[in-house]
Amino acid sequence: MSNIPVTVDRAGLWDAEALSDVAAATFPLACPPNATVDDIDIFISDVLSGERFGEYLTDPTRTVLKAVADDDIVGYAMLHVGVPADPEVAEAVNLHPVIEISKMYVLPGHHGSGVSKALMLAALQRARAVGAAGVWLGVNQDNIRAQRFYAKHGFTPVGTKTFHVGNQLHNDFVMRLVF
Ligand SMILES: CC(C)(COP(=O)(O)OP(=O)(O)OC[C@H]1O[C@@H](n2cnc3c(N)ncnc32)[C@H](O)[C@@H]1OP(=O)(O)O)[C@@H](O)C(=O)NCCC(=O)NCCS
Repeated sequence: MSNIPVTVDRAGLWDAEALSDVAAATFPLACPPNATVDDIDIFISDVLSGERFGEYLTDPTRTVLKAVADDDIVGYAMLHVGVPADPEVAEAVNLHPVIEISKMYVLPGHHGSGVSKALMLAALQRARAVGAAGVWLGVNQDNIRAQRFYAKHGFTPVGTKTFHVGNQLHNDFVMRLVF
């Protein structure tokens, strides 16, 4: 773990490839032990490529935040405005308007260092600034570290959902934070 200074800013299109690299390095850490390398690779190439980040970075419903330490991107978060697409999740979340924290990933060398806290505080500040009633997210049911991190920031579980990784279906908790 490092404790070097970190800044959090909105990412731009020029960050797409660097964000994709961080995403590919950190996504496997959020997967349950039974996730296969092949399924994880499918997800990374379908959802976390530089091209996909280019789409996220130009999507008016999304904001990508980058955490930078020593001139390198060491973590990122993505906010997505809008009602959850799954009606059961929307019912469980039950907040209007609401923002999803759809990604929150930090390189392992920076876990426990304050980078994730800086990202979360920036994400919550942005969500409040646009008038959201609260935020929600999905987290794998085996990802105890992330669940503890979210609980420390005031999130509580309100339901469950599934999440496709390649050809596998993973089980998530739905957590929300009401402002
Ligand atoms: C989730 C993530 C952003 C949290 O950031 P972090 O810097 O690790 O968070 P923190 O260290 O502040 O908090 C994690 C908590 O889990 C605890 N923890 C660490 N490892 C743990 C484990 N194996 N089991 C249970 N708890 C664990 C820590 O002690 C800490 O709790 P504490 O502050 O009460 O001691 C970061 O771990 C990460 O990027 N993980 C990989 C990607 C991921 O899972 N993203 C979330 C997808 S939903």
